[in-house]
This record gives sequence, C-alpha cells and structure tokens, in this order.
Amino acid sequence: MDLLNRIDEVRAQLQNDIQQVGADPQAAENLRIKYLGKKGLISVLFADFNSIPAEQKPQIGRVLNILKKDAEARIQALSEKLKATSSQDEFFDYSLPGLTPAVGHLHPITQTLNRVIAIFREIGFVVEFGPEVETDYNNFQALNFADDHPARDMQDTFFIDEKRLLRTHTSPIQIRTMLKKKPPIRILAPGRVYRNEAINPRSHCVFHQVEGLYVDENVTFSELKTTLEVFAWRFFGADVKTRFRPGFFPFTEPSAEMDISCFICAGKGCRLCKYTGWLEILGCGMVDPNVFKNVGIDPEKYTGYAFGMGIDRTALLKYGIGDIRLYFDGDVRFLEQF
Ligand code: DAH
Repeated sequence: MDLLNRIDEVRAQLQNDIQQVGADPQAAENLRIKYLGKKGLISVLFADFNSIPAEQKPQIGRVLNILKKDAEARIQALSEKLKATSSQDEFFDYSLPGLTPAVGHLHPITQTLNRVIAIFREIGFVVEFGPEVETDYNNFQALNFADDHPARDMQDTFFIDEKRLLRTHTSPIQIRTMLKKKPPIRILAPGRVYRNEAINPRSHCVFHQVEGLYVDENVTFSELKTTLEVFAWRFFGADVKTRFRPGFFPFTEPSAEMDISCFICAGKGCRLCKYTGWLEILGCGMVDPNVFKNVGIDPEKYTGYAFGMGIDRTALLKYGIGDIRLYFDGDVRFLEQF
C-alpha cells in the first residue's frame, strides 16, 4: 500500500479513536503515545517517508505534515477537555454542608403554653385536659353561676343547644377533675376557649387559657400568692413585682386579680401598660365552698385555690406583638420569628 493510502488510514483511525474516548483523563496521553510517540503510527509514517522517491516528497510531505499538525491539535484539545471535566469532579467538595430542608417549629402560643406548664410541673402540678364542647353545667352551673347570675354576661357564649356550649373558659376542667379525683388535687389545665366577641387587635373569639387548681387540707391564700409570684418571676424575670387586687369570680371567694409590674418600662409607665406601670396577668382566688358542694368535696375539711390565665395576651406581652389576630392568620413570615 502506498504511503498516501496509509496516511488516509491513520487519519481515519485517529478520527475513530477520538470518538471512542470516554472520560478517562489518561486517554489523551495514550492517544499521543499511539500516534505521536517515538514508535507512534505517525512517526512510523515519517520514517517511511524518508525512503520514498524524491519527486514524491513535496506532495506527500505536505499531506503528512498536515496529518501530524492535525493530530497534535486534536489530541491537545481532547486532553484539555478531559482535564476540564475531571477537574470539575475534583472540585466537588463532599464535605460541604447539604441543603437544609425548612424545618417547622411549634406555634408561639404552644411554646408559651409549654413554658407555663413546665414551670408549674416543677412545683408539682399535673396536666389535665377537657373537651371544647362543654355542658352548661360544667361551664357555669357547677362553678356557681346560677341561671340568672349576671356574671354569665361576663362571658358571651356560643351555645350549641340548651345544654351544650363551646367552653368560655378552662374552669370546667376543675369540675371534671374534682368529680373524678379526691384531694389532694394539683392540676394545670391548658386549652382553647371561645367567646362571642368582636375580633380586633386586642381580642379574638378563640383564645387559650391555663387553669390551675390546688385542693387539700389547709390550703391558704398566701400559698396561692407565693405560687403565682414564683411563676411570675420564672416566666417574666426575677425583677418583676406582683400585686393582687380584689376581684370577682363566682367560683372563688375571695377572688383577686394579679398584676405584674410592666417589664417594658419597669413600672414607670409606657404604652404597653397604658401608663399604669402594671399589666394584668390572671384571675385567682380561694375555691368557693359552693363549688366544693357541687362536686361532693367537703368544704369543712378541704380548702383550695384556683387561678386562670389568658395565654394569648401573655404571649403578646412577652413577645411584644401588637395584634392578636396575627397568631391565627397562619402567615409563616410572622410565625417563623419565634
Ligand atoms: N375563668 C376565668 C375567666 O375566664 C379566669 C379565672 C379566674 C379562673 C379566677 C380561675 C380563677 O380559676 O380562680 O375569666
């Protein structure tokens, strides 16, 4: 076969080899050796070129040089391409942290509830639950609200029928617990409550309360005060002051409302505390003997205290939120902040 044909053949073979190359970065070097190395296919052609007749040399020499240059250029290009792809692989840093999927968290109301519960748990309270659809008896009657008692108007009620309603407070859980357990009783009852009230930045028709109840022999008002003071310090900070004002609830006698000194202005007076220096936190009192009679506990033998606290408002104060409706809009941009 004459030299020109062999040149064509080598060119075709090179073309073929380049197409077959995989991702192995060594491949370009192997091709260089195979074609351009000392004993490479093209070098062999050059060796044979020396022995052809002189008059053929200019023409065949040109073709052969073109093949060599072409081979060098293509193998060089291939080598760069393989290096580039393999260096991309080398740059992949497997120790980089992965993409963290968005993780949800507890609702700020639940977080607040959990903190309140944790504090009272440490003092020995256990958690009790009750249904949101309650009987009129548990929600009002047994708690010493007579049918025509004006205190019923304090709590605008969603009635379901004559005897059932959406509980207006968590106090019916006191009744349920005292009906099934004998003293000593020390419970904390969190839950959602409903009142037929206009929705505005400060109030909502759905909100949350925590009820506390302690019944035993010789339970005193000063124990109630101490317990709630300890709670206030734990929850709001050790420098808050507390004060108890006389209040009225049908199911406690005497009744009181507890305020804490405003933790924004430290009692000096600001917008949050409406320039009074105090924030109202909860209602409380000594369990009314009538309530004990309604659940079959002897009021001569036992005394007890109870307290009830709104969680939503407490969380508003704690987090400095201006609008209670934000809790229930489900806007993640708001909720993500807690
Ligand atoms: N149930 C009352 C309310 O919703 C709060 C309350 C006040 C609960 C005094 C109590 C208590 O247990 O002793 O306004």
